[in-house]
Amino acid sequence: MVKQDITSSNTELQLKNLTTLGEFVIRKQHEYPGATGDLSQIFGAIRLASKLVHREINKAGIADIVGAAGAENIQGEQQQKLDVYANEKFKAALAARGLVCGIASEEEEHFVEFTHDLSRGSKYVVLIDPVDGSSNIDVNVGVGTIFSIYKRVSPPDGPVTLDDFLQPGTEQVAAGYVIFGSSTMLVYTTGQGVNGFTFDPSIGVFYLSHENMRIPEDGHIYSVNEGNYVHFHQGVKKYIKYCQEIDESTNRPYTSRYIGSLVADFHRNLLKGGIYFYPSYANNPNGKLRLLYECNPMAFLAEQAGGRASNGSQRILELRPTELHQRTPLFVGSKNMVDDVEQHIAEHANS
Ligand code: AHG
Ligand code: MN
Ligand code: MN
Repeated sequence: MVKQDITSSNTELQLKNLTTLGEFVIRKQHEYPGATGDLSQIFGAIRLASKLVHREINKAGIADIVGAAGAENIQGEQQQKLDVYANEKFKAALAARGLVCGIASEEEEHFVEFTHDLSRGSKYVVLIDPVDGSSNIDVNVGVGTIFSIYKRVSPPDGPVTLDDFLQPGTEQVAAGYVIFGSSTMLVYTTGQGVNGFTFDPSIGVFYLSHENMRIPEDGHIYSVNEGNYVHFHQGVKKYIKYCQEIDESTNRPYTSRYIGSLVADFHRNLLKGGIYFYPSYANNPNGKLRLLYECNPMAFLAEQAGGRASNGSQRILELRPTELHQRTPLFVGSKNMVDDVEQHIAEHANS
């Protein structure tokens, strides 16, 4: 008779040991005596909206969710139907819990103040990229949602102000992303490391699957849109060539991987070790990615996982924002790879 090792193969038994996202957030909250539980409720709202977006994405081929919505956002980009849908769901979920007094979104020109009695006077503001990589939806490739949470700096009895949103990334209370890939995952940090949760759609629950995520210090994946190579500055070009050179001691040539969804590219590099970059170049002097709801949250996560994020010479988290939709070049990922690219940029600063 073949004996079955039920402890390793029985899913139900394994499930017993799993921690849900809700349980984890509450457990963490108890580690901070003064914590009010507000953040737990904000995560609750993000979790709910993520599930709705997950549902739509997973039937994208058959639902009326694929394609352009027919409008452009403030940055002149075609809004996809899913951009609009996700933006509305995140906004509604965050407004309904009454802990957030306003949001800023890639899909909204101005920040949105929540004026309902429930929300007015709340302590937090949230910045989001509701769907990152939205041009990938139509072709069934991974997309994501990025979020960043700050304490407001304006008095709670007054209106929300632009200054509440224009805070340097070092002030983030929490940040994270949801990746809608071959499975859906939520990855977040509150400044105490990075943890990842995988969604079980059969019961609608996120389970802790990646505890205390660490990015390898030395990666061997580089992720950049090389179609723009001719436009890049000399230092970036030299770094790309460095990635492609043979050198056994540093595991080069590195592997090139580029999905075109920051969330998906970042997530892979976080797990495997690597660098993602979107540099500035002649037509795009500040690069493409937005500081407040793309670069800062990813920079916070990268640093919390032991990596780095730079604009080529300065720490992303220390940049002083002046505009809601401001762009910045981004180099993010494994610590030693970000060091290397900065060094190449510095060496060729005048060429
Ligand atoms: P979004 O869909 O939110 O506008 O972001 C798209 C961003 C980012 O996710 C991705 O890495 C980058 O744009 C891709 O740009 P290119 O197509 O220029 O490579
Ligand atoms: Mn984006
Ligand atoms: Mn987007």
